Amino acid sequence: MNWVFIEVVLFTLVIVQCSSQVTATSETVVLSSTTSTNNPVLVYCNGVNEPGSNDNITWEYTNATGTSRMLSETSSSFNLTSTSDVGEYTCNLNGNPVHNITAAYLAKPTLEHTQHSVTFNDGDKKRKLTCTCVGSYPAVTFEWSRRSEDKGALPVTLSSGGNITIETSSERSVLTFNKLKYNMQAYYECQVMNSAGNQTVEVHVRVKDRLAALWPFLGIVSEVVILIIIIFTYEKRSKKAAAKASRGAATDDAETPLKANDETGTELRNRSSANNKDNC
Ligand SMILES: *[C@@H]1O[C@H](CO)[C@@H](O)[C@H](O)[C@H]1NC(C)=O
Ligand SMILES: *[C@@H]1O[C@H](CO)[C@@H](O)[C@H](O)[C@H]1NC(C)=O
Ligand SMILES: *[C@@H]1O[C@H](CO)[C@@H](O)[C@H](O)[C@H]1NC(C)=O
Ligand SMILES: *[C@@H]1O[C@H](CO)[C@@H](O)[C@H](O)[C@H]1NC(C)=O
Ligand SMILES: *[C@@H]1O[C@H](CO)[C@@H](O)[C@H](O)[C@H]1NC(C)=O
Ligand SMILES: *[C@@H]1O[C@H](CO)[C@@H](O)[C@H](O)[C@H]1NC(C)=O
Repeated sequence: MNWVFIEVVLFTLVIVQCSSQVTATSETVVLSSTTSTNNPVLVYCNGVNEPGSNDNITWEYTNATGTSRMLSETSSSFNLTSTSDVGEYTCNLNGNPVHNITAAYLAKPTLEHTQHSVTFNDGDKKRKLTCTCVGSYPAVTFEWSRRSEDKGALPVTLSSGGNITIETSSERSVLTFNKLKYNMQAYYECQVMNSAGNQTVEVHVRVKDRLAALWPFLGIVSEVVILIIIIFTYEKRSKKAAAKASRGAATDDAETPLKANDETGTELRNRSSANNKDNC
């Protein structure tokens, strides 16, 4: 009985030791947009001390969509020359995984259909900003933030709820303004991040008056109206002047002012009689 127990303990110890020996080390190498045959990134099997020994080295590669295959590579190191080389590399020494390498890449994010700024109307519904980041590995996480137009303002992280909705899939994130208000005018940032780092793309969202397009039109209309009034009064005056000129030539000049005096006199008399009535 005792011997069996000791054997079991020893066997367990051997297994624990073996499995601790084959535990792979891991690291991340970062590919960049400049990665090419002229500017490669070296992948090196960290568990191999003597390249050129009789050790049997094999490499397993798992691409970004999870398909695994054995590489024909048998040396302890090789070069990655393209951002499409992203994925997981496992170096096996005599059949045991000894080193794992994640080849990471972070692509530049872009905002679809927008330049440096975009203009929406006050009250607009369901306006969207779409941030895409294609070709990155591992999958990126997206983060939206709003930075006020005030100088030195810090970005504030946004989340779904109330006036905005954020929907994110693996390669894109859509920020929807449920209903735009003036106070939503600001800089909006889309940040993407993974183990290769982080990058930000920004857009200035302007919110303008819904009637803004109407103002120039109203301006033209009022200009026309003013012009008509000016022409009308000018015409009236010149007609009056012409009439006066023709009358002045025909009759006595003093007649017109005298008539005017008479009128004001009557008016005054009427008013004073009205006042007297009030006093009674
Ligand atoms: C290394 O990669 C292998 C195969 O992909 C995996 O089974 C193992 O868990 C990884 N080890 C570490 C330490 O990441
Ligand atoms: C991964 O490999 C499979 C099989 O070769 C291929 O169909 C798939 O497109 C690859 N994925 C990427 C992201 O390259
Ligand atoms: C990787 O590329 C570098 C620079 O081009 C080169 O010096 C090196 O020999 C290459 N290594 C392998 C294993 O191909
Ligand atoms: C290395 O090992 C793999 C299996 O782990 C085997 O298929 C292959 O033939 C071996 N290569 C050499 C050169 O021994
Ligand atoms: C959006 O809604 C949140 C809460 O729902 C509120 O705190 C915030 O002030 C609103 N922002 C704007 C610009 O109206
Ligand atoms: C983004 O990357 C920069 C370096 O490029 C780093 O200083 C900063 O802390 C990172 N930000 C986050 C949120 O990880």
